[in-house]
Amino acid sequence: MSRRAWAYVAGGAGQGRTMRHNREAFERWRIVPRMLHGVRHRELGTEVLGTALSAPLLLAPVGAAGLVRPDSDLLIARGASAAGTAYVFSNQGCQPMEDTAAAMNGTPFWYQLYWSTDEPLVDSLIQRAEAAGAAALVVTVDTTLLGWRPQDLDLGSLPFARGEGIAQYTSDPRFTILATERAHRTSAEENGITVGAISTLLAMSRRHPGRLLDNLRSALPRAAVQTFLDIYSNPSLSWEHLASLKERTVLPVLVKGILHPDDARRAIDVGIDGIVVSNHGGRQVDNAIAALDALVTVREAVGPDPVVLFDSGIRTGADLFVALALGADACLLGRPHLYGLALAGADGVRQVIENMVAELDLIMGLTGVAAIAGIGRDHVQAAPVGAHH
Ligand SMILES: Cc1cc2nc3c(=O)[nH]c(=O)nc-3n(C[C@H](O)[C@H](O)[C@H](O)COP(=O)(O)O)c2cc1C
Repeated sequence: MSRRAWAYVAGGAGQGRTMRHNREAFERWRIVPRMLHGVRHRELGTEVLGTALSAPLLLAPVGAAGLVRPDSDLLIARGASAAGTAYVFSNQGCQPMEDTAAAMNGTPFWYQLYWSTDEPLVDSLIQRAEAAGAAALVVTVDTTLLGWRPQDLDLGSLPFARGEGIAQYTSDPRFTILATERAHRTSAEENGITVGAISTLLAMSRRHPGRLLDNLRSALPRAAVQTFLDIYSNPSLSWEHLASLKERTVLPVLVKGILHPDDARRAIDVGIDGIVVSNHGGRQVDNAIAALDALVTVREAVGPDPVVLFDSGIRTGADLFVALALGADACLLGRPHLYGLALAGADGVRQVIENMVAELDLIMGLTGVAAIAGIGRDHVQAAPVGAHH
């Protein structure tokens, strides 16, 4: 990866403590294998909110993956589809969701929404996701502001400001109206011309739909980035917004980024269909609690029935097993699939998924579990106090 891509993908908030906590939490739970159980065949398939999954694993939404490879979202979709794995498309995707949907080739996908300050844009994105065939909507609520990310700051790198990761917007009819209005308002303005400004303009124009030469002559690519920066997320997002979703979509809705048991209960109370326990891979608040610790309290709070998914720190099949044992119905895989993408494109994505699932399958065989629903709290144990990792 380029330095900018690596900073964006591997980097986290502040001193990186939340990322470290995510991994340390996995060290504090240990698997308890059981013997002589006669389990020969394992069934890894499961169903979450009406979506059939070949294994309890979906690809997490990741924005601006185009930093890693051109055509990123299409390649990820092809890798996911080759592995038969569902993919949650990011609102900050690098290809329009309709194109990525086609690349899924029939494998289920969900759509992740960032709630814009422009309500008609929210409706437009939801309608497009429904029309494209998304099977669920995932509203990410932990990124109403972008976290403090020193690795990006050190490089002066904000992908979105260069037009990276705004393809869902530039392909959207409602957004195009907003950006065009802005382009008309600002095209007469004088702008200071520096080498940096020209390089940014070039980057924006390259990523904007249409021909580069036309884009360079037009005020639209720059207006699109500025419009995006104005409206992309809504810091005043509240429970009332979420409650309004019931009338705005026919899809099941999950809320991603929940860490406190009260927030989990409240989400269920306002009619949300599922919760994704996540601290965004430690990219938002430094020194936050480990997502795995939150999984335990959230599952306790909501009881056995509501759908609870998990991400932030899953790196192996053994991690998957532990998260499932602690109450997750399925997990989302974040950074690792981008590493596969960087190394070998769609095939790298496929291999990362298949390796992860292969290890889960073996651990199920070695712990005596025949099906995903059979992975339970009895299969893990807290590490003895004071035990070294
Ligand atoms: C490069 C990158 C971009 C991300 N972009 C988004 C996004 O657009 N929307 C979202 O809901 N989460 C996003 N996330 C968070 C992931 O969905 C997921 O919560 C996180 O990667 C899990 O942590 P892990 O990768 O350390 O396991 C992003 C994560 C990374 C690494």
